[in-house]
Amino acid sequence: MRSGRQLETWALDLVPLHPEATVLDAGCGWGRFTWPLIEKYALASSNITCSDSSFGMLQTAEQEAQRRQQHPAFVVADIQSLPFLSNCFDGAMANHVLYHLPDISEGVRQLARVVREDGWLLATTNSDEIRVPILEFHYAALDRLGIDYVSEAHSPFSMENGKQILGRWYREVEQFYFEDETLYHTADEFLARYTTIGRYRNLLTQEDVGPETKRLLPALVREQAEKVIREHGVLRSPVRMGAFVCKRPIL
Ligand SMILES: C[S@@+](CC[C@H](N)C(=O)[O-])C[C@H]1O[C@@H](n2cnc3c(N)ncnc32)[C@H](O)[C@@H]1O
Repeated sequence: MRSGRQLETWALDLVPLHPEATVLDAGCGWGRFTWPLIEKYALASSNITCSDSSFGMLQTAEQEAQRRQQHPAFVVADIQSLPFLSNCFDGAMANHVLYHLPDISEGVRQLARVVREDGWLLATTNSDEIRVPILEFHYAALDRLGIDYVSEAHSPFSMENGKQILGRWYREVEQFYFEDETLYHTADEFLARYTTIGRYRNLLTQEDVGPETKRLLPALVREQAEKVIREHGVLRSPVRMGAFVCKRPIL
C-alpha cells in the first residue's frame, strides 16, 4: 500500500506536455506511462508511439489500448537501434528500462537523435542506495535453503550514475528524487508482491532448483514478513527512485 503518490504522474509533471505533442514511449512495457499521458495530460493517442523490444510485451500493451479505446502506434524496436527518423518527436521516455541495455550510451544517443533539438527525454530509474526488505528476505531464504547466488552488482543505470551517462549526449540533465514508502499490513500482501519480482520468477524457471525448494522459498519469505508484522504491526519498505529530464542534445 503506497502513500498514494504515483511515480508516473509525478514524473510526467516534470516535462513540458501539450495536447498536440508527439511522444515516443521507448521500452513502454504494458504502457504504465502511456495511459496517464493520454488520459490525464490529454495528449492525442494518435501522436504517441509505444515501442518495446519484446513482442509479447507490446501485445499486452496493445490489448490494454483496446480496452481503453486508445490508438497509439506500436512498434517492436530495440532502443539501441530505433527505426525512426531523426528529430521526429517532441519528447521521448525511457522509463525503468535503460539499465537493461547492453550499450546504454548508444541507447541514449538514439533517443537524443529521434527527438527534436528543443525536445526532451524523461528517464526514470531506481536508486542503488536503498535496502529493500523484499530482496533481503529473498536472499535470506536462499541462504537458508543453501542456494548459491551472485550478490547484486550496482545497477548500470541508477539515480547515482545516470546523470553522468546521460550527460554524454545531453547538455542539460536535471535529476529529481521520488521517495515514498510501501506499507504491508499482512504477509499475504507482501507475498503477493514478492511473487511478481524477477529474481523469484527466474528462480522458478531454473531446472537445477528442485520442486521442494521452490515450494519452500515463498514460505520462508512469508515467515520473515510475518515476524516483522507481528512485532511492529506493519512492514515498511522504503521506495527511492527518481527521474532525469534531459534537454539540448549533443549530436
Ligand atoms: C521494467 S519494464 C518498464 C516498462 C515501462 N517503461 C514502465 O516503466 O513500466 C522494462 C521494459 O523494457 C523492455 N526492454 C528491455 N530491453 C529493451 C531494449 N533493449 N529496447 C527496448 N525495450 C527494452 C522490456 O521488454 C520491458 O518491457
